Amino acid sequence: MDYSNHIMNLGIELSGLLSEALGLDRNHLKDIGSLEGLFILFHYYPACPQPELTLGASKHADGDFFTILLQDQIGGLQVLYQGQWIDVLPAHGGLLISNNRFISSEHRVLANRVGPRMSVASFFTTNLQPSTRVYGPIKELLSEENRPLYRETSVKEFAMHYNQKGLDGASALTHFRL
Ligand code: OGA
Ligand code: NI
Repeated sequence: MDYSNHIMNLGIELSGLLSEALGLDRNHLKDIGSLEGLFILFHYYPACPQPELTLGASKHADGDFFTILLQDQIGGLQVLYQGQWIDVLPAHGGLLISNNRFISSEHRVLANRVGPRMSVASFFTTNLQPSTRVYGPIKELLSEENRPLYRETSVKEFAMHYNQKGLDGASALTHFRL
């Protein structure tokens, strides 16, 4: 419970900074619901005798506004950068952040001979009930030169598509591309 309170405070701070980095009002991401839902997933990756035959978590991009990830010292997290898998080395006390003009990074977790490895992923989402709320490219950021790349979608439609697709390595966003 303590951890989730701290994570929420950090999320509030980050939501403000990410809004400002986009040139928007500090409250923008909060006002469109980015802090309404906090979903925390604890992962336990057992030691793997043959890591070359499998993965810890297959390639995916998270479906939330942004994620704060706490990983232990075992390592294994990788992000896809310019077509190459880059190790995200554990930094003591460090937290990792993903997401969109902030690109939602494709990432995966390697299996490791050493373990178990543990991680805690905190996902910031909109309120998922009711799920009829519609999201699309942020209007304030659109112009003649910066036209929408994605169509609008409801939380329900997005969640259904994301969950049905599964972690197949393809981006969930392609489906919504105009
Ligand atoms: C996730 C995730 C990475 C990890 O939960 O979406 O990518 O290090 N976790 O466990
Ligand atoms: Ni992830």
